Amino acid sequence: MMVIEHIGELAGIVPEGVLRRQGAEMDETGILHNAWIAVEDGKIADFGTGDAPAGGERIDAAGGMVLPAFCDSHTHIVYAGSRDGEFLDKIRGLSYEEIAARGGGILNSADLLHGTSEEELYRQAMVRVREMMACGTGAMEIKSGYGLNPADEMKMLRVIRRIRESVPAAVKATFLGAHAVGRGYTHEAYVREVIAMTPEAATLADFIDVFCDEGFFTPEDTARILEAGAAAGLRPKIHANELAESGGVQVGVAHGALSVDHLERAGDAEIAALRGSETMPTMLPGSSFFLGLPYGRAKDFIAAGLGVALASDYNPGSSPAGDMRFVMALGCIRMRLTPVQALNAVTLNGAYAMGLSAETGSITRGKRADLILSTPGWTLTKLPYLYRSPFIRKVFLHGIPV
Ligand code: NIG
Ligand code: FE
Repeated sequence: MMVIEHIGELAGIVPEGVLRRQGAEMDETGILHNAWIAVEDGKIADFGTGDAPAGGERIDAAGGMVLPAFCDSHTHIVYAGSRDGEFLDKIRGLSYEEIAARGGGILNSADLLHGTSEEELYRQAMVRVREMMACGTGAMEIKSGYGLNPADEMKMLRVIRRIRESVPAAVKATFLGAHAVGRGYTHEAYVREVIAMTPEAATLADFIDVFCDEGFFTPEDTARILEAGAAAGLRPKIHANELAESGGVQVGVAHGALSVDHLERAGDAEIAALRGSETMPTMLPGSSFFLGLPYGRAKDFIAAGLGVALASDYNPGSSPAGDMRFVMALGCIRMRLTPVQALNAVTLNGAYAMGLSAETGSITRGKRADLILSTPGWTLTKLPYLYRSPFIRKVFLHGIPV
């Protein structure tokens, strides 16, 4: 047994069986002061206030805070090389669409990935995975989508599997063959190729994704691809409404998507489509920040009774950063979420958006002991407020320091 005692603030306590938070529940987070938490066999055994039970290995939090490790439900961290040249184009004033139309963007990453060995791709991705874990992320989803042909998509999915097998963080894999039309294909031929890839992808992936947006894939393409995914047992988690009100939210909900992600341009029709569904609206404020796009209407979604998850979208083109504490801060500073709402969005609801919220994403007895221990003096409100000050003393995944 391990006991962390003298915790100033233990935040993110969720009753057993609560798998997501929506509407007014977004304002709930169990917080205990002067608390302790006990870990056994990698799981949260118990927690409480005052004097901790005797025995076991003791860690003195010295008034520091303990919260659940972050759950990042949307990333593209398996990529090769860098797109810093496009960063300069962006500074010169080109938009994301203009860079993509000139053969930059996703196709540029696909060319780089094609020329990179599986071993080297794994090595580069692991640098980012370690960075994310050091920033407090304990569960992450990783997408393919820089292959854009059968051999390279499977190469990416094998790299994700290898990451899953080698890190203590929980890793979920998503097949995003439909990220852009691969080189050498017509649009229709590529949609058919993605459908043909799906059964093999399903042997490596948990979810299927489509970039359903203006200039990429239509709602009709998306429906065809999601049907192929369903036949192969893959639940959708899709990209929608980043560049336009694309119809992506509606097609995602109609196909039982676990999440619909981006939503920078979502209107009332999207909110109406999501109400009463099992789909978690997921917003990616890091890409709004980096691309200068509108931020998602998280407060309106919550007022309509919906939940919201926030994720990093860590990728080389629209969000080259995977620090979920910064995502949380953007949620508060730019989307006007309260710290409590933002914490729910980056922990429990992020876990839900990966199908992992029965296992991690909160302080709940029996869940994985995926915990962040802060240095002394931190509170939930200070995390997004003092948003650049280092706060992490130790990250525990399965109760083991990373
Ligand atoms: O989520 N929007 C589509 N895909 C990624 C960007 C990928 C890239 O530019 O490499 C995103 O923002
Ligand atoms: Fe993305």
